[in-house]
Parts: sequence; structure tokens; C-alpha cells
Amino acid sequence: MNTKSCKVAVTGGAGFIGSELVRQLCLDGHEVVVIDNLVNGKPENLIDIDNGSCQLCIEDIRNSELIAKLLKGVDIVFHLACLGVRHSIHSPLENHDVNANATLKLLIAARQTGVRKFVYISSSEVYGTARAVPMTEEHPTFPMTVYGAAKLAGESYTRAFYETYSYPTVVVRPFNAYGPHCHHEGDSGEVIPKFLIRSMAGIQPVIFGDGNQTRDFTYVSDTARGILLAGFTDEAVGQTINIGSGYEVSVSKLAEEILFLIGNSEIEPLYDLPRPGDVLRLYADTQKSRDILGFEPKVDLKEGLKRLLNWYQNSGLSPEDLLKAEIVHNWKVS
Ligand SMILES: NC(=O)c1ccc[n+]([C@@H]2O[C@H](COP(=O)([O-])OP(=O)(O)OC[C@H]3O[C@@H](n4cnc5c(N)ncnc54)[C@H](O)[C@@H]3O)[C@@H](O)[C@H]2O)c1
Repeated sequence: MNTKSCKVAVTGGAGFIGSELVRQLCLDGHEVVVIDNLVNGKPENLIDIDNGSCQLCIEDIRNSELIAKLLKGVDIVFHLACLGVRHSIHSPLENHDVNANATLKLLIAARQTGVRKFVYISSSEVYGTARAVPMTEEHPTFPMTVYGAAKLAGESYTRAFYETYSYPTVVVRPFNAYGPHCHHEGDSGEVIPKFLIRSMAGIQPVIFGDGNQTRDFTYVSDTARGILLAGFTDEAVGQTINIGSGYEVSVSKLAEEILFLIGNSEIEPLYDLPRPGDVLRLYADTQKSRDILGFEPKVDLKEGLKRLLNWYQNSGLSPEDLLKAEIVHNWKVS
């Protein structure tokens, strides 16, 4: 595929990872149409991007007719729009509707309007807790939440389009991302931003369970670069590819690292009951992304945490302001 100046659509492009992907696509000279209903995304996430090369369309991906119009003339769709893991605990049907049903609708619209490639952003959550590590793309998929199950349905539809119609698709499975514009608020709140802002405010990070659960945290510029490469590498078509750092860290160790970084090592994390459906171990095998995409994560956890801290410190908001949007137990069983 000619990688010079394509027209690209990014669903969920006003969100955390999506906005970084849009930034990199525009810097690479592509024209980007962002499709986002702003349920969790923000136009401010795109504020530093040249609006000559980026157009924000505030639309819901479930609205197939409108979306088909927006896809006219688009070369590649990067599909990131979704509702999150904790949303799936209180609203499983809506979560499935957006993450699975709307993915199928989008595939149909993309194929019918002549979009040349469809890149589906799945999640490491499709694996469930690791049964063998590091986790290759062949690892069994046993999602533990409706979110993980709906993402797995979305990627299955994506692969089915490749198998049935020879429609060029790629499935990307990012592991946990963090970095500027990540979510600390409401049911979108993730562990790194939550720990970081609590530690900055001098209060205890809260660990759910024994803290031995592990994750493979990837800095958002690396995650976005991996996704971008998946869209522009011909050999990736028909493939499912992990994007991770290849480094496993426990949640207890993460809390320790963050408290040390802030200079608040005397604070002890608070331990609370486990979360429903919490995956206990995630650790990416990154060989396939290296072999096919030439992907190499550049920012390690220490450096990434420093950069994110710096971003919060320059955000104009105090840790106390940031904390107002944080909900400690940010899930509700329906
Ligand atoms: N953040 C992570 O650690 C992580 C890890 C693995 C996979 N992923 C995947 O990456 C993608 C992006 O995740 P993120 O963390 O940036 O989440 P995010 O919530 O910041 O971004 C999702 C975006 O989708 C938009 N959206 C939601 N429903 C929509 C709808 N019906 N129509 C249009 N737009 C809609 C939201 O407004 C938001 O801007 C998701 O597909 C997610 O499954 C994220």
C-alpha cells in the first residue's frame, strides 16, 4: 500500500490512544477524519494538532448511514471507538452494542464504501488471565468481562471479513497503555493515572486484591506507533498482532515505583477487596510485532511514569482538582 499521504478515519480519535494515533498520523502527512461521539473523548485532546489535516466529526459509530457517508474516499479505517471494561460491568448490553455490533456495522460500511483496509484495535483483555507467559497471539482467549468478550467478538468479525470476503483487515491487541490524556476519572479511570494523582496529593493508592496481579504497561506513543505500523505494513494484513512492552510488573510494584517517583515512599498503599472480573496476569510476547512491523517500544516504565507526572504537573490542574473526578470503586455490578 502506498504509505504517502492517505486519507484515514480514526474512530474514537478524540480518546486517549486515538488522539495520540491521530497526532502521529498527521505528523506523518496523512489526512485524518476523526469519528467520535465524545462520550469519553475530548476535542481538547486534539488541540495541538494542525486542523488543516484533521477533521473532528462528532458522530456515533452506531449510526451506520451517517458513518458510511463519512467513510467515502477513506483509504484506511483505524477502529478504536469503544466503551470500557468497567462500563461493561454495569451496562453489558450497551457495551456489546458499541464494541461488537457497531464493529460489524462499521466493517460492512467500510467494505461497501471502498475503504481499502480496516484495522481493528482489540485488547489484551480478550486473553483473560495468562495460562502461559509471555503471551503469544496463539494464547487461548478466555475473556473475563463482557468488555473482553465484546472486543473478542469485534476481532472475530474483523477476521471473518478477511476470510470470507478477502477484505484486507488487521487485528491489533494492545496491552495496557498509559501516558498523556489517559483517564483517571469515573469508570474510565485506570490504575496508573489513579495511583499517580493520589500519590501526588499525598494520599494512599488503593490496590484491589493482593497486588500480585501483573500487567504489561506500554507508553501511549509506543502503542500508537504500533497501531500505525499495523495499518501501513502490507504483511500485517490477515494477522493478529500484540502491541506491548514485553515487560511484566505487579500492581504492588507499580505503586512502589510511583510513590518513589513522587518522593512519597513513606506512604503505604491501601489494600481492598478484588475487583469483579479482574485479570490476574498479562505479559505480552512482542516477537510478532517486531518481526512483522519492525515495532520496538521506546519508552520504558520509569521514563514513561516520569513523562506522565510531568504532563500532570504542567496541566494547570492541582492533584486535588484532578482527584475530584476520581472514583475509588469505579465499577458497579448491575
Ligand atoms: N487504554 C488501554 O490501556 C487499552 C488497552 C488495550 C486496548 N485498548 C483499546 O484501544 C481503544 C482506545 O482505548 P482508549 O483507552 O483510548 O479509550 P478511550 O475511552 O479514551 O477512547 C475511546 C473513544 O471512543 C469514543 N466512543 C465511545 N463510544 C462511541 C460511539 N458509540 N461512537 C463514537 N465514538 C465512541 C469515546 O468518546 C472515546 O473518545 C479501544 O478500542 C480499547 O479497547 C485500550
